[in-house]
Amino acid sequence: MKELWQSRTSFVLASIGSAIGLGNIWRFPYVCYECGGGAFLIPFLVALLTAGIPLMVLEYSVGHKFSKPAPLALGNLKKGFEILGWFALLVGFGIATYYAVIMGWAFNYLGYSFNMAWGDNTQGFFFDQFLKISESPMQLGSVQWMIALGLVLTWIAIVAAIWKGAKTVGKVVYFTVIIPWFILLVFVARGVTLPGALEGLKYYLTPNFSALLNYRVWLHAYSQVFFSLTIGFGVQMTYASFLPRDSDVVNNAFLVSLADAATAFVGGFAVFSTLGYYANQTGLPVSEVVRSGPQLAFVTYPTIIRMLPFGSLVFGILFFLMLLTLGIDSAFSLVEAGAASLIEKFKWKRINVNIGFAIVAGLIGLIYTTRSGLYWLDIVDYFMNNFGLLVVGILMCVAVGWFYKHEEIREYANSKSDFTIGRWWDFSIKYLTPIVVGALFITNVVDRVKAAYGGYSRIAEFFGGWLVIIAFVVVAVILFKKKGRT
Ligand code: PFF
Repeated sequence: MKELWQSRTSFVLASIGSAIGLGNIWRFPYVCYECGGGAFLIPFLVALLTAGIPLMVLEYSVGHKFSKPAPLALGNLKKGFEILGWFALLVGFGIATYYAVIMGWAFNYLGYSFNMAWGDNTQGFFFDQFLKISESPMQLGSVQWMIALGLVLTWIAIVAAIWKGAKTVGKVVYFTVIIPWFILLVFVARGVTLPGALEGLKYYLTPNFSALLNYRVWLHAYSQVFFSLTIGFGVQMTYASFLPRDSDVVNNAFLVSLADAATAFVGGFAVFSTLGYYANQTGLPVSEVVRSGPQLAFVTYPTIIRMLPFGSLVFGILFFLMLLTLGIDSAFSLVEAGAASLIEKFKWKRINVNIGFAIVAGLIGLIYTTRSGLYWLDIVDYFMNNFGLLVVGILMCVAVGWFYKHEEIREYANSKSDFTIGRWWDFSIKYLTPIVVGALFITNVVDRVKAAYGGYSRIAEFFGGWLVIIAFVVVAVILFKKKGRT
């Protein structure tokens, strides 16, 4: 029997919960920082409006119309597109393998925040004591057991949260969405009242028009929108398939997309105001206060927490608690979507699928707990987003815009919704999104042919990037070909 959300609110909260996650507080700030702060906001907004929202409408409408999880819903458009659905879920799976590790770091840091174990030198603590980072990706080194323990705890928490399917999810998300928002507001309030905050906010909010000429800023903006809205994972489509028949589609798509973008934007105030404070204390310009990258939250925040005039203990605990509650409903949305798809097609048992998922993802995740884990995380993150999500996004547009009657999907969405979408949606799905994202994608491929990503070796790039993508394509085809049980 199909599980339906018990109310529109539980669906919207679950969908928002999937969207709002570490992407808003951990990824958005460092991508934005690396792209030059204010330079990023315009492309981000453009990507949200031209690709994010139209694709959210697409995912919801297709999921809802066919009332099936992503691979099978896409298979209804045209049989072979089922492969795309499995590939999307596998890309999501690839993301979840390292996402859970970051939550594992957060578990450790939650423990550290009780005595601010990171001390004065937070960069040194994070890289040398916590990660014990090696020289290069190929120098794996041993597993760091505390990080691995954090990873195990994370997967246990994820599986526990969805033990009973949509029924429990509908309840859990009330907490995992509302608590982080509350904590985030506390951080913003604290951040913007710190000395120097204004400098940080200037960096964040002053547009830099010359950066708009750099294709990489646009590439990062689009992939960040996909990551952040959980688009191209097969998750939103599957979640929408659980909705009762008479539910609204368009309103919900706008609501969830805008809530997610607003959270990232508001989160930016907390991050950049505190970076301004940091600049003020260290005498460095805002653009140089941190070694940018995936470590931003774990180097800067502990520093900031320590430098706070008062309440360090409480703010430290709240911050890492917030990361965990933000991350969990994103991670479990992927497990839910994967499980729903496998159960629907192969009639596997939910408990087995959930536990199997956690074990496989956890074991793969051990790679990121080795001494070279951060390098692998960086490479896999780059490939999953730019070569995974973007490709899924383009192909979903092609599937609906070119191989199906896109008007029918729009009319379906409109027939369910209070406020309706016009032909601009068709234009966006058929031409705008695939052309713009396709062009960015091709430019990026050319870049990768010229040089390996991020200065890593070709061999590391191959194992962390290309091989993963190839493996996912193969597995997607196998899942498609394998006969389902009826
Ligand atoms: N939308 C999530 C975020 O912004 O953090 C990303 C995500 C990661 C969703 C992993 C689902 C997932 F399994």
